[in-house]
Amino acid sequence: MTARSSLTVVLAAGEGTRMRSSVPKVLHPVAGQPMLIHVLRAVPKGDGAALAVVVGPGHEAVEQAVRRVRPEAMTFVQRDRLGTAHAVLAAREAIARGADDLLVAFGDTPLISAATFERLRAPLQNGAALAVLGFRAADPTGYGRLLMEGDRLVAIREHADATPEQRKITLCNAGVMAFDGRKALEIIDRIGNANSKGEYYLVDAVSIVRNLGLEAVVIETSEDEVRGINDKAQLAEAEGVMQARLRKAALDAGVTLIAPETVFLAADTTFGKDVTIEPFVVIGPGVSIADGAVVHSFSHIVQSSIGRGALVGPFARMRPGTSLGDGAKIGNFVETKAAILEAGVKVNHLSYIGDTHVGARTNIGAGTITCNYDGFAKHKTTIGKGAFIGTNSSLVAPVNIGDGAYIGSGSVITKDVPDDALAVERSPQTNREGGASRIREMKTRAKKPKA
Ligand code: UD1
Ligand code: CA
Repeated sequence: MTARSSLTVVLAAGEGTRMRSSVPKVLHPVAGQPMLIHVLRAVPKGDGAALAVVVGPGHEAVEQAVRRVRPEAMTFVQRDRLGTAHAVLAAREAIARGADDLLVAFGDTPLISAATFERLRAPLQNGAALAVLGFRAADPTGYGRLLMEGDRLVAIREHADATPEQRKITLCNAGVMAFDGRKALEIIDRIGNANSKGEYYLVDAVSIVRNLGLEAVVIETSEDEVRGINDKAQLAEAEGVMQARLRKAALDAGVTLIAPETVFLAADTTFGKDVTIEPFVVIGPGVSIADGAVVHSFSHIVQSSIGRGALVGPFARMRPGTSLGDGAKIGNFVETKAAILEAGVKVNHLSYIGDTHVGARTNIGAGTITCNYDGFAKHKTTIGKGAFIGTNSSLVAPVNIGDGAYIGSGSVITKDVPDDALAVERSPQTNREGGASRIREMKTRAKKPKA
């Protein structure tokens, strides 16, 4: 840790034209989280670490995303996109306060780590005016090239302005830079726009630092950490790198992944001990999985919590707001949404359970549907504890089913059912066939204490 104060300016105003999308580039997700948020989680935080984010005009959604993770952050709008140096100067007011270190990061490099920011700051303590993060690119096309004289950094040349010889250089600019905070404005204010695109390029800071007789250095990191995302192909590559990291972290934490390469995780997925995830599972944002739970193959889970020893799938779909209690079970072809299933609840086959609260140990038979939508509004279903819902029942919400109630199979329940009551609601045709009496008989049997 360093005792020096810092200001990090994150550039996030680019149009993202190459993404061919109406969504601002930095909001495209990697591992279920906007790429900008990954960057904001890696930049310095805590006492003495200020943050400014430069956003594009009309990008309120970007500002909102920033507020969610760093409510105290300053945001600045860059009205015309005249280049990366111009973008940094949108935060002039913040830079002028003169933190010890000024860090500049891009909102489109989501794989960067906190440790790298700290490494980049170190040379400033030793008197350098500028430290540039560099990497060896497998394919340097599109990146700015670092021009070295021995181990001295003399300039950065953008791809479009580079000579064929310079284009052979594989040491590239990652985009992250650390300036001596008290000299930064003097340096950046000198940047002009005499290049093929007529933009104010932050990379020109290097030659300016040299001309001022100050020192600029390179700190190298791996390509995987600094992949810049400009198009959907690069977004997919970054996703691949992030997924590999998340799987490795899960395995290191003791999660059993039988075929890790087939399991997709989110940046915020949390696991207890002895969790098993079978092949071909997709986990979206906001999922927690407690000790001993098993997620069987082909399940899709978003914004849900899975209790201790709970079983999910195969082929289960847990939509936002599902909470599965300890030892509860959701089986194949079951969809849940805004559903609290208390401990020991079983929904084993072919059901939709939405806007529903189910009490502990209740058994929900195959094909049960909570009819939560009447074509106009959504309604709630509550089912008490220890209840039994017969197969192929439709529970027409709003409706309450009491503790220990017993619903005969094939019922369409439109009225509340009291505790311990037996309800069989069917077409007259079915009832004539004696279904009700059979169910009554079954209930008597079910009530007998088990051996
Ligand atoms: C930039 C670097 C290049 C480096 C590469 C690494 C410059 C001039 N070039 O190129 O040397 O190898 O990143 O990924 O710095 N932005 C604004 N306002 C602007 C322009 C850009 O906010 O007016 C933001 C973008 O949203 C983006 C970042 O700055 O987050 C980088 O801009 P981008 O256009 O992606 O630069 P590259 O061409 O990738
Ligand atoms: Ca870029």
